[in-house]
Amino acid sequence: MHLDWRPVALDDGPPISTSVTAAETQRLQELGKDADVLEIGSAFGYSAVAFGLVGARVTAVDAREWVPLDTFLGALDAYGVRAQVHAVAQSSQSALPMLVDEGRAFDLIFIDGDHTAPVVESDVIWSLKLLREGGTLAIHDFNEPCCCPDVGPTVFRLLGEPDEIVNTMAVYYRNKIVGEQRPEVFVPSVTGRIEPKVPTGFWGTVQPDEHP
Ligand SMILES: C[S@@+](CC[C@H](N)C(=O)[O-])C[C@H]1O[C@@H](n2cnc3c(N)ncnc32)[C@H](O)[C@@H]1O
Repeated sequence: MHLDWRPVALDDGPPISTSVTAAETQRLQELGKDADVLEIGSAFGYSAVAFGLVGARVTAVDAREWVPLDTFLGALDAYGVRAQVHAVAQSSQSALPMLVDEGRAFDLIFIDGDHTAPVVESDVIWSLKLLREGGTLAIHDFNEPCCCPDVGPTVFRLLGEPDEIVNTMAVYYRNKIVGEQRPEVFVPSVTGRIEPKVPTGFWGTVQPDEHP
């Protein structure tokens, strides 16, 4: 499923550019309601605002390579959610180990940052250290082989089949990941993991339900 960037308004606020779909937004808001959320990749602020509007407390990590911090903060102000969002203007590779050192833990982690294989792998491994028991990991562009071909195969190799797929977004429940099915992802060194093969036709299983 290919996603285009387009301006999207949440509630009655101003449009914010994003590629996140309406169905993905709805599921993220269900999972993030009144929760502690870690977002990796904020861009113009769409997903951070979506979380803020449902009462989430958001830690928003973004290397700020694409969109200036002030633009992001302006979107938070426009929606009245700035007080709920802590912006961390760093790469996830430096920010996530720092959050682990600080003893932070989250109910929901939304990965939507650098989409290359090494960074996706790092984001997944560190996110698993930051997820609370019963928490949820949501990974955008898992099923976006056109623009983000590394994401799906990398995540599948680490975590296997998602528990849910919403458009391009894979959702994994932490308690299933730490069960006996996937103990290999908690090995500190990533070597020696089981490497399941991606089944033929795997990427064609999701149909867009609402994407314009
Ligand atoms: C796809 S956009 C995020 C979209 C956003 N979630 C939304 O709702 O529209 C990806 C963002 O990840 C950021 N990024 C890229 N590499 C990163 C890294 N290594 N660590 C953290 N953020 C990164 C970019 O600066 C960009 O703003």
